[in-house]
Amino acid sequence: MKPTILAFETSCDETAVAVVRGTEALSNVLSSQVDLHARFGGVVPEVAARAHVEAIRSLTHHALKEAGVHPDDLDGVAATAGPGLVGALLVGHSFAKATAWARQLPFVGIDHMEGHLMAPRIQFEEFEPPAVVLLASGGHSQIVHVRGWGDYETLGQTIDDAAGEAFDKLARVMGLGFPGGPAIDEISEGGDPSAVGFPRALPDRPFHFSFSGLKTSVVRFLEKAQESGDLPSLEDVAASVQEAIVDVLVDKTFKAVDETGAQVVGGGGGVLANRRLRHRFAEEADKRGVRLTLPDPILCTDNAAMIGVAGAHWLSEGRITDWVESVDPGMVL
Ligand code: KG4
Ligand code: ZN
Repeated sequence: MKPTILAFETSCDETAVAVVRGTEALSNVLSSQVDLHARFGGVVPEVAARAHVEAIRSLTHHALKEAGVHPDDLDGVAATAGPGLVGALLVGHSFAKATAWARQLPFVGIDHMEGHLMAPRIQFEEFEPPAVVLLASGGHSQIVHVRGWGDYETLGQTIDDAAGEAFDKLARVMGLGFPGGPAIDEISEGGDPSAVGFPRALPDRPFHFSFSGLKTSVVRFLEKAQESGDLPSLEDVAASVQEAIVDVLVDKTFKAVDETGAQVVGGGGGVLANRRLRHRFAEEADKRGVRLTLPDPILCTDNAAMIGVAGAHWLSEGRITDWVESVDPGMVL
């Protein structure tokens, strides 16, 4: 039987609730706090937690209504347990536990990154292990060899900034506002990715990333260009910055595909919404004849359907989280 799960995601700045049946998302609603945080240039933890409290109850009604599911028909409740902002996580986790307790339903806490990792299952039946998955979000960048569900080998990860963090910081340097990823994606559309040859940081280890040096070189480039009065268009600079990040992510992910012999490649996390990255993934997968399973951008950025899919999976396997368990802001996949 495919369990019907009510799922919550509140690890950062999106309050998200979904109803999932097995791997099918019956509803997937969210309230974004982007405008609340934009004037601060980043996510303010206390503001995020308060906004989750305000939004979560009505969003839950909304998610159930849209799914056409009555609370009596639920088989379980899932919520993100970490990693993330502790106050923000506690809102969704506590609300989910209280709902499960009141309705005498099993509760399961989910690793946010495993949620991203399982998101392709919502759209692709063929997304099955063994697979290589690139997880790239605001806080994490890692290449994972999925040997089985729950059997994850992290082949490499960032040694400094996450890819999303790099997008956000570089957008700030270029005066493009917050969040930076979507802004760079948008403005790069009209730019030449080969206009400026920014360095591709390729640390010794084949699957590890480093993005902090890129920020330094972009800052230096902009200073010099301003001094000399020879400043390329913002579109060209943004497209070149984007290409430097995308090149490294694509290169290393497909190196992992080649080395593991995986026939399936997927991705999750906000950075996988990037249009250039998705295009390059498609090209590389095509070249190798491997199956590309990138979910739609809305399922790459934070959402609760991915938490529901992971929740349905683990509840079916009999995993139930004890009531005394709390959140773990530093959870590692
Ligand atoms: O997974 P996510 O929604 O939240 C976290 O778990 O962090 O990822 C957010 C990150 C942000 O750094 C944001 O700038 C980046 O994903 N992002 C993008 C795009 N959309 C979101 N980066 C590049 N291109 C995009 N289109
Ligand atoms: Zn995320």
